[in-house]
Amino acid sequence: MIPAAIPLEDFAEDIVGKAIRGRGIGIRELAESSGVEAAAIDALLGGQFDPDAARAIAPELGLDAEALVVAGQNSWRPEPVALEGLAMFNTPWRDMFVNAYAVWDPAARAAALFDTGADAGAMLDSVAAHGLQVGAIYLTHTHGDHIADLDRVRAACPDAEVFVGEREPLDGATAIPHGHVSTIGPLELEARLTWGHSPGGMTYVVRGLARPLAVVGDAVFAGSMGGGIVSYADALATNREQIMTLPDETVLCPGHGPLTSVGEERRHNPFLARMNK
Ligand SMILES: [Fe+2]
Repeated sequence: MIPAAIPLEDFAEDIVGKAIRGRGIGIRELAESSGVEAAAIDALLGGQFDPDAARAIAPELGLDAEALVVAGQNSWRPEPVALEGLAMFNTPWRDMFVNAYAVWDPAARAAALFDTGADAGAMLDSVAAHGLQVGAIYLTHTHGDHIADLDRVRAACPDAEVFVGEREPLDGATAIPHGHVSTIGPLELEARLTWGHSPGGMTYVVRGLARPLAVVGDAVFAGSMGGGIVSYADALATNREQIMTLPDETVLCPGHGPLTSVGEERRHNPFLARMNK
């Protein structure tokens, strides 16, 4: 139910680029403050990883230096996750892949879907194969790759109510606020506002399976985070306040890249590792 070997979404150059853009720092300014030549920073952004340059610029960008070096050396991947009641669907969208999820109570078979991905075919097949009763479809945010197949999912699950964060309303969806609590059969679901990548991005925390889980959309990726398109500062702040405060064993279900956990990200995410808390 969990696809094997989904690659990390971001390389070190993506991480550094997101931090530079997010903080609005110019290359020349970064060169001056870090003591690293502008040409070396350009080379790093072009994919030529230099650990010394990375260690020097990391503090200027608010990144954890050692986590950034690990990203540059491509020497870490999160431990594979297997959790009964969680299925992940990874579908191609333009030049990338996007994730959608099904979560259900293994005994009651009550289920919720999270985003649709580019093609919900495998997700709907899985719903049928497991005999799931889909009562709700929760949208993490409304970027096109995450809701591309919503009409088809609605048609296949006519009894399911669609939910979206109230700061990102969508026709036909019920807008819910931060703190909204609902249930998936015996499982408890709590919506948390994790905006900054999008205006009203939501994280859905589910409790009641063998491990807690959080469907985070593009708020956090394994070893990285979504770009702070609306507000980098708020993306970072809400990630720290709403996601990184969850227990270490919490499974994180990102919109792109592999499954991870709060504990893994506390150690390995250059944006969110312990020294930046
Ligand atoms: Fe997005």
